[in-house]
Amino acid sequence: MRLDKYLSNMGYGSRKEVKVLLKSKAVEVNGEIVRDPKVHVKEHADHVSVGGEAVTYTEFIYLLMNKPQGVISATEDKYDKTVIDLLGEDEQHFEPFPVGRLDKDTEGFLLITNDGKLAHELLSPKKHVDKTYFAHVEGVVTEEDAEVFRKGVTLDDGYVTKPASLNILESAAMSKIELTITEGKFHQVKRMFESVGKHVVYLKRLSMGPLSLDPELELGEYRHLTEEELTSLKNRK
Ligand code: URA
Repeated sequence: MRLDKYLSNMGYGSRKEVKVLLKSKAVEVNGEIVRDPKVHVKEHADHVSVGGEAVTYTEFIYLLMNKPQGVISATEDKYDKTVIDLLGEDEQHFEPFPVGRLDKDTEGFLLITNDGKLAHELLSPKKHVDKTYFAHVEGVVTEEDAEVFRKGVTLDDGYVTKPASLNILESAAMSKIELTITEGKFHQVKRMFESVGKHVVYLKRLSMGPLSLDPELELGEYRHLTEEELTSLKNRK
């Protein structure tokens, strides 16, 4: 890879800014000052430093976002802002994408990465990755609903859902619940409640597999996964 692209990918600014950095003689490759942006470096073999600090090349980014309502979980959209629009330049140049979809009006846990293999595994129906949601539901949610969800509920298109775990936090005219599902059918949580005659008015994803929403993140904020979180995600059962 060209040195200017390498440094730009590692967050040292645009190609133009990197050129200035190179001119300032701040960059060394294998102990030699290099000023030519076209020089090729081997990402995992050459030793690159900037201002004496070693640069470790990373190919993938893994971000945890607290998705706000009103943005689309896609990489681009004709009409609305996407979750990618909420990222900074430093993250956008890795060309990440959201792992799965949350509805425009759903908030909460969203993993954003450019690691296609991991994303594919997390979304694979065979892997049964748990997703837990918190919801406000119009209508009195009952233990009978929990039983129906446990057994599998028939959606409007005839699909029977896999067993899901419903935890009723408050059963009232406006109920509060937590629901854990292992699939990701279109509008699944909302449609499961519609099937028992109830209506989700607020939906937030709390967790996915071993990872939970970070309470420190305000809506629209994101952070990189920690090494520990990434390991737990990759080694999940
Ligand atoms: N189920 C839904 O109905 N909507 C979401 O955004 C996620 C799960």
